[in-house]
Amino acid sequence: MKRRLPQISELRSLMKFEPINLDRRAARLAKAADVWDLRAIAKRRTPTAAFDYVDGAAQRELTYTRSRAVFDSIELIPRILHGTADADLSTVIAGGPSALPFGIAPTGFTRFMHAEGETGAVRAAARAGIPFSLSTMGTRSLEEVAAAAPESRRWFQLYLWKDREKSRKLLERAAAHGYDTLLVTVDTPVAGQRLRDARNGMVIPPRLNLKTVLDASYRPEWWFNFLSTDSLKFASLSNTSTDLPTLINSMFDPTLSFADLEWIRSIWAGKLFVKGVLTAQDARKSVDAGADGLVVSNHGGRQLDRAPISYEALADVRAEVGTDIEIILDSGIMSGADIVAALCAGADFVLIGRAYLYGLMAGGEQGVDRVIELLAKEIRVTMQLMGAAKIADLGPELIRRRAGRE
Ligand code: GLV
Repeated sequence: MKRRLPQISELRSLMKFEPINLDRRAARLAKAADVWDLRAIAKRRTPTAAFDYVDGAAQRELTYTRSRAVFDSIELIPRILHGTADADLSTVIAGGPSALPFGIAPTGFTRFMHAEGETGAVRAAARAGIPFSLSTMGTRSLEEVAAAAPESRRWFQLYLWKDREKSRKLLERAAAHGYDTLLVTVDTPVAGQRLRDARNGMVIPPRLNLKTVLDASYRPEWWFNFLSTDSLKFASLSNTSTDLPTLINSMFDPTLSFADLEWIRSIWAGKLFVKGVLTAQDARKSVDAGADGLVVSNHGGRQLDRAPISYEALADVRAEVGTDIEIILDSGIMSGADIVAALCAGADFVLIGRAYLYGLMAGGEQGVDRVIELLAKEIRVTMQLMGAAKIADLGPELIRRRAGRE
């Protein structure tokens, strides 16, 4: 039999793109009973490279796996006959209100996961009355995100990077467009080694070539969205097509120090949180350099594998800085019960990264609505079962580690 190479033009006509039916999408999302269900939907509907970028972590993924094990090992203590007709989930963080005790973490390449990307997520966050954080690695600009949801509470995430002038300009734009809080990520002097990405040959944007077109993991609706919306780019960076380690390692200076943090503090008038603190000593230095708050985070296990678990690092950090400094926790949050546990353990607020991206991949903006709705419901029910009427009622007397599981 004589063979020839398949032609891309012929393949295109064979690919049947389903028009997006919002009702079907809503029905699919409504069936998801928790974030794990959304993850399962996301996995079915997203190219492997994009799903694995979110789902994966660094090296052997030990930090991420351990983070989940730690959350699973926490007992929440019920209080019987301590009735609360409802629970008030609202709180105040970084000088402003949030209707729920969690916000959306900064994530890179978000439109790679779903074309609705950051603008979909910020709209969902605004509807729910919670903060949305835009990443320096975002795929929508500061201006686009602000315009998509002018009423939103917006935070901006900055990496400590080489080019000071670029950083200054970004911060000026963030301040001018109503971003009230800056998260300065300090755990990324170099890129973590995410082996799934290396194995998948992940590059941004994905190359439309014979290999990707033939890759069965690229789903029709994802391709339709990808090809029928404006092209994927890093909105805050000049670099275009590349892989993450190359991008990070070209931008960041591994020799950056606390003096650089002081410099950022000197040019940013809003609230400033240092993101990626895991020890009392670094917490102290960050506060001394001018931080208003800290994000206790191991970057979702995506940077230093075997790094401490946020939940376990929290007590030392809190003991060091006291209660005047706000602490946000992230890395590994998948449920409302995880959020309640973190708040009981001393966090003031929580950020969700993967959890919201599973929703985004499962159903775009509506999928993010669904994640927020599910987590809010879980928090409310958990608090009521624990006899807690408001966030301030959550304290260390309501949690315990399961004996023999540590
Ligand atoms: C970027 O910050 C990432 O964790 O991928």
